[in-house]
Amino acid sequence: VYRQLTPNRLQDKVVLVTAGGTQEPLDPVRYIGNRSSGKMGYAIAGMAAQMGAKVTLISTRPELAVPANLAQVIYVRTAAELQGAVASLYNEADVVIMAAAVADFKPAQYVSQKIKKQVGQTDMTLELNRTPDILATLGQEKKKQYLVGFAAETNDLMAHAQVKLTAKQVDLLVANDVSQTDRGFGADQNAVTLLRPNQAPEALPLASKKVIATQILERISTALSSKEE
Ligand code: CTP
Ligand code: CA
Repeated sequence: VYRQLTPNRLQDKVVLVTAGGTQEPLDPVRYIGNRSSGKMGYAIAGMAAQMGAKVTLISTRPELAVPANLAQVIYVRTAAELQGAVASLYNEADVVIMAAAVADFKPAQYVSQKIKKQVGQTDMTLELNRTPDILATLGQEKKKQYLVGFAAETNDLMAHAQVKLTAKQVDLLVANDVSQTDRGFGADQNAVTLLRPNQAPEALPLASKKVIATQILERISTALSSKEE
């Protein structure tokens, strides 16, 4: 079957993309965050729009330039806000791509005034509580949606990613090595391995995040059309 290479391959599909790292506030001036730059999610959102999708981007990164032709951008900070935004749009979505690095723990208490150190204080202990696993919840509630997760790993990439593919019930897991500075978090390039249930892993070699985004979206488009046929 002949298929167009890229244009219109996601025509009118409703695509939800999350991007960036969440920030969990401790007090009005401090938060717990991570090194996710949002660039991979932005590249995916922009390319999905170019492929004809109706894209909503949920982002923690208001300083990044918004890609052309998105349907909507929603800015969030915390894991809880990101979860609320995703939940409100999940039923209508055909594809959900969780590229955001969501905090696993947040401060047990938010202190409404700046925390002051005491004279002579030499250490401080923070109590943290687990945040909900948004992607796992989406996996449990999945109906028609094609669900995509990322796995950020510094070691034993494939073993850890394989566990996440199954545990979170996703259709595609993008395994992302974040231990090297030329790729992954913060970089303009990436190299990933795609894991799908009952399919051999597929390595996408080092390339710009735009190229990686295109390859990921082409796989998604192919999966959607084989579901329809
Ligand atoms: N994720 C999520 N909600 C969380 C944590 C993670 O939805 N509270 C999603 C991320 O958006 C990503 C996937 O789960 O798509 C994997 O995130 P990752 O941090 O690699 O894995 P975790 O399951 O959090 O496991 P760990 O950090 O312990 O490796
Ligand atoms: Ca995590």
